[in-house]
Formats: sequence, structure tokens, C-alpha cells
Amino acid sequence: MSSISEITKAGVVLLAAVGALTITIKALSFWRLIFDLYIRPGKSLKKFGAGTGAWAVITGASDGIGKEFAYQLAAAKFNVFLISRTESKLQDISNDIESKYQVKSRIYAMDFTKGDKRDYENLKEIIEELVDVGVLINNVATNHEIPTPFILETDEIVNNIVEVNISGLLRTTKIILPKMISSNRGLIINVGSFSGMIPTPYLSVYSASKAFMSTWSAALGAELKSKGIVVENVNTYFVVSAMSKIRRSSWLIPLPKPYVKSVLSKIGVPGGATHIPYSSNAYPSHAIANWIITSTFNLSFWVKQGLAQQEDIRKRALKKREREAAAAKAQ
Ligand SMILES: NC(=O)c1ccc[n+]([C@@H]2O[C@H](COP(=O)([O-])OP(=O)(O)OC[C@H]3O[C@@H](n4cnc5c(N)ncnc54)[C@H](OP(=O)(O)O)[C@@H]3O)[C@@H](O)[C@H]2O)c1
Ligand SMILES: *[C@@H]1O[C@H](CO)[C@@H](O)[C@H](O)[C@H]1NC(C)=O
Ligand SMILES: *[C@@H]1O[C@H](CO)[C@@H](O)[C@H](O)[C@H]1NC(C)=O
Repeated sequence: MSSISEITKAGVVLLAAVGALTITIKALSFWRLIFDLYIRPGKSLKKFGAGTGAWAVITGASDGIGKEFAYQLAAAKFNVFLISRTESKLQDISNDIESKYQVKSRIYAMDFTKGDKRDYENLKEIIEELVDVGVLINNVATNHEIPTPFILETDEIVNNIVEVNISGLLRTTKIILPKMISSNRGLIINVGSFSGMIPTPYLSVYSASKAFMSTWSAALGAELKSKGIVVENVNTYFVVSAMSKIRRSSWLIPLPKPYVKSVLSKIGVPGGATHIPYSSNAYPSHAIANWIITSTFNLSFWVKQGLAQQEDIRKRALKKREREAAAAKAQ
């Protein structure tokens, strides 16, 4: 009898010890998150040539997050090279930036979904003329129109995502890297997504392209570290934009301006534990969401949550389409 109670006692002590250890580890990782978000400074943009005539290249620069990167990098005294599809929007932004910040700017209109060889050749020519490139923001992306099962997704949308999100990312970076290597410094920011961390059903190709981005960023970051080039995959939850179709900001969903401000002030700071190196959580509420996701349930749990959530969004999107079709018919 007494030996059984001894064993029980030992078991209780062991459980308590494991519990205390788990709590201590979680508390330490939460403290590290708070330290990263509110105390630890990021690398200065001066390290990458701000104010010395160096250029920042931004893809998807005419709207949302990319446009905000263009403005904030120009305010930090980088010349800016802006790329997206719409020439008129790029021209307006370029004029505005030049008059506001007294920096130089260039624009190039191309559609990354086309994967046109001539576009990439033109890009290469312009980049060669720029002399010194300090920063590259890989921001352009395209998504599924609505959450869609892979089997029902059109080949066109699947190809577009691969062209823009994977080929465009690789080709643009390859064109710009030699410039950074020759000056022994550079900053490459890849605008990633939570859906790269948690596989997202019904947005499977988009989600996988973001996982590609984070794995590739980690491998490339390790290759380039000794060459003075910083690679950062910025893990992004929702931001107000045309793509997210979210119009109102909240604690969890910032406008592009505060979002980009956080990213640029926290270069090289992971923002709490990340399970992939060279990935970071820059925006406080996104970093806290990431901490909760990674320190509570396992990935199977979150994938299941994603499935239910996307099924719901799809149902509502299909109903909206039906309503719109009926309204169009009635006219
Ligand atoms: N918003 C979010 O909630 C969220 C969350 C996670 C990750 N992200 C990531 O953040 C990045 C930017 O998204 P955003 O929300 O800022 O989007 P956005 O406001 O829709 O802006 C997209 C930009 O890309 C350009 N663009 C789109 N398709 C293009 C193409 N085929 N070729 C060339 N340029 C193209 C657009 O300009 P034109 O129309 O002139 O081409 C625009 O400048 C993306 O990588 C996205 O995955 C966003
Ligand atoms: C792929 O497309 C999605 C959808 O917009 C975008 O958010 C993401 O950034 C893109 N991925 C890459 C690797 O560019
Ligand atoms: C993940 O957690 C759930 C409970 O939330 C559990 O049922 C499942 O077995 C876990 N899966 C793995 C792979 O650990």
C-alpha cells in the first residue's frame, strides 16, 4: 500500500515539475517577445545606404503595403524604383515622392503574371543603370479570387500565383543580388504571410507559395549573411488593403502605414520565437497572434480551424456572387 502511495506521490511531484518547467519556458518566450517588440532596436536603414544615393526597389509599389514601403523608404532618403502593372498610378506616386522627399525615382510597368522575358531584360537594364541598390522589397503577389478547392481552381489562377509569387520573386531577386554583393551590403524584405506558416485549405496554392517564400528566405539568408546582406521574410497577418478586402483597421488589422513603419524599425529582430530562421513578426499584434498560435495548439488544430473558416468565407462569397448575378439579370 505505502509503496503505491509513494509512487503516486513521486508521480505528482514529477507532474508538478513538468508543469512548472512548461510555464517557465512559456513565460521566458513571452518575455522574449515583449523584449523584441518594445525594447530591442532594429538595424538602422543607414546600414543599407539610406541618404547616400542608394536605391530601394519595390515590387507591387502602386497600392497597399508596397506603396507604403515606397513612401517610407523615400522619407528615409532612398531613391526609389517602383514596379507594378499600372503606369499611371506609378507615375503619380513617383511625382509625389520626388516633390515631397527630394529623392530620385524611376518606374517600370509590367505584369508579373505574363512572365515576359523582355520585361525581365528591361528590368535588368534599368537596375544596371542604378549603380547602387541597397534595398529590395519583394511585395508583389496575387491570390485566389475567393477560397476555392484546388480541384475547382482555374489553371489560369494557379499559373498566375506561381508566375507572380514564385517566378517573379526569384527572377527579380536574381537581377538585383549582384548589385548588393558588389557593395557588400543589402536588405531583402520578402512580404510573407501567416498562410505560409499554417497551410490554408481553399487557398492552397497561395499558401504554398508563401511557404516557398519562407523556406527560400531562410536558405538564402544563410547563404548571404557573410556577404553583409540581410534577408527577412516578414510574417504578415491581415493588413487593410484591396487584396485582403478588409477596409477597416482594428487592433489586429493595421493600415499599411503603421504596419510598414514597424517592419522598417525592426529589421533583424525576430519578434518572438519563430520556428523558421530569417522570418520575423514585426507588427506587435501580429507577433502576439503568432506567439499564441505557436505556443498553444499544434498545426493539425490550426489547419482544421482554417478549413472551417475558409469554407465559411467561400459560402458567403458564392452567395454574394449569386446575388450580384441576379441583380445584373434584373436590370
Ligand atoms: N493585406 C493583407 O492582409 C496581407 C496579409 C498577408 C500578406 N500580404 C502580402 O502583402 C503583399 C502586398 O499585398 P497588399 O495587401 O498590399 O496588396 P494590394 O494593396 O492589392 O497591392 C498589390 C500591389 O501589387 C501590384 N500588382 C498586383 N498584381 C500584379 C501583377 N500581376 N504584376 C505587377 N504588379 C502587380 C498592384 O498594382 P497594379 O494593380 O498597378 O499592378 C499593387 O501595387 C503581398 O505579398 C501579400 O501576399 C498581405
Ligand atoms: C503569392 O500570392 C499571394 C496572394 O496575394 C501573396 O499574398 C503572396 O505574397 C505571394 N507569394 C509570394 C511568394 O510572392
Ligand atoms: C494535435 O492536437 C490534437 C488536439 O488538439 C490531437 O488530437 C492531435 O493528435 C495532435 N496531433 C499531433 C500530430 O500531435
